[in-house]
Amino acid sequence: MIDIFKNFYRGKRVLVTGHTGFKGSWFSIWLHELGAEVVGVGLEPYSEKDNFVLSGIGKKIKADIRSDIRDEVKMKEIFAHYQPEIVFHLAAQPLVRLSYEIPVETYQTNVMGTINIMEAIRATESVKVGVMITTDKCYDNKEQMRGYKEDDPFGGYDPYSSSKGACEIAIQSWRRSFFNPEDYGKKHHVSLASVRAGNVIGGGDWAKDRIIPDCIRALEAGKPIDIRSPKAVRPWEHVLEPLSGYMLLAQKMWEHPTEYCEGWNFGPEADAVSTVWEIATKLVQCFGKGELKDVSAPNALHEAKLLMLDISKAKTRLGWKPRLDALQTIDLVADWYKKYQNQEVYSLCIEEIDKFLTV
Ligand SMILES: NC(=O)c1ccc[n+]([C@@H]2O[C@H](COP(=O)([O-])OP(=O)(O)OC[C@H]3O[C@@H](n4cnc5c(N)ncnc54)[C@H](O)[C@@H]3O)[C@@H](O)[C@H]2O)c1
Repeated sequence: MIDIFKNFYRGKRVLVTGHTGFKGSWFSIWLHELGAEVVGVGLEPYSEKDNFVLSGIGKKIKADIRSDIRDEVKMKEIFAHYQPEIVFHLAAQPLVRLSYEIPVETYQTNVMGTINIMEAIRATESVKVGVMITTDKCYDNKEQMRGYKEDDPFGGYDPYSSSKGACEIAIQSWRRSFFNPEDYGKKHHVSLASVRAGNVIGGGDWAKDRIIPDCIRALEAGKPIDIRSPKAVRPWEHVLEPLSGYMLLAQKMWEHPTEYCEGWNFGPEADAVSTVWEIATKLVQCFGKGELKDVSAPNALHEAKLLMLDISKAKTRLGWKPRLDALQTIDLVADWYKKYQNQEVYSLCIEEIDKFLTV
């Protein structure tokens, strides 16, 4: 595999929370291929069809740990045992609609879980870099036409979005109080950043109430695809786009610990921002079959209608930019779901990472 990080991850001890999930499984595969010693901490995968299960990545990495991030003591024990150097914190309850059903658990996992991980970082001398994954939904959504910038106010209407806004405030506080760049080398040696991706799509996601998994389930069952919010506008991006940004950022933080410990957006270019209906239409075209059905209801749960990210900071200061345009993105997403039943999934993921890196 091409190593765009020039051997940086080879031999590094990297702890990934949420490695059993959609983004975490891709992340673990990519880091493992780059030669990192990956320790994963997460709950059981949701289904036998998850990318984590089908790829078998759990058996390849250094440690595949099932543990709850709400358990602060356990987190500190894991960190003390494995002595990670870089931490990527992805574990979360990431679904807006589910957060209306389990708001307390959403807050416990997302907010206290994040604080527990920061406390484990604080207690573990080996950690040099912490990248905390929040979301584009952490911003106070004003349904505005411009993309959110990193210094826009945090907020959130539903429990998921607001829990991630609260995470951002906690991360900012921990950075000011315990990992302050001004005290680097004197009181601590940790560089801590937070990262906000758009609506991430890719193979192996089967989450409930997400558009791509909803489409694939309907296609596989030969049923029409129900579209709840056809007009909602989202910043769609392939899962490998933000992951490449997280890795590049961590490398920069390692090399310049006080220069990059901030918030960063890793969204798509403006032309990949489109409606739910448009993205589902493109997927159906890629499969050459399927029918969309508008099932929007006037009294549905509140979900943001318009959401975009401004990515000029990551472009200018990190030299990061999305690699795929809207069509290449959806093609690559469809590729996984067309092939996963007939091809060994680990090699399929490697093939897709290679494709992503060579467009
Ligand atoms: N998928 C997206 O579109 C998107 C967009 C922006 C941000 N994010 C963020 O990226 C991260 C990963 O999202 P995803 O789509 O891969 O979600 P996912 O649901 O597929 O994975 C979540 C992971 O977190 C773990 N987890 C959940 N609760 C836990 C707990 N209490 N203790 C330990 N582990 C726990 C799960 O086991 C799983 O490994 C989340 O923080 C999410 O908020 C996702």
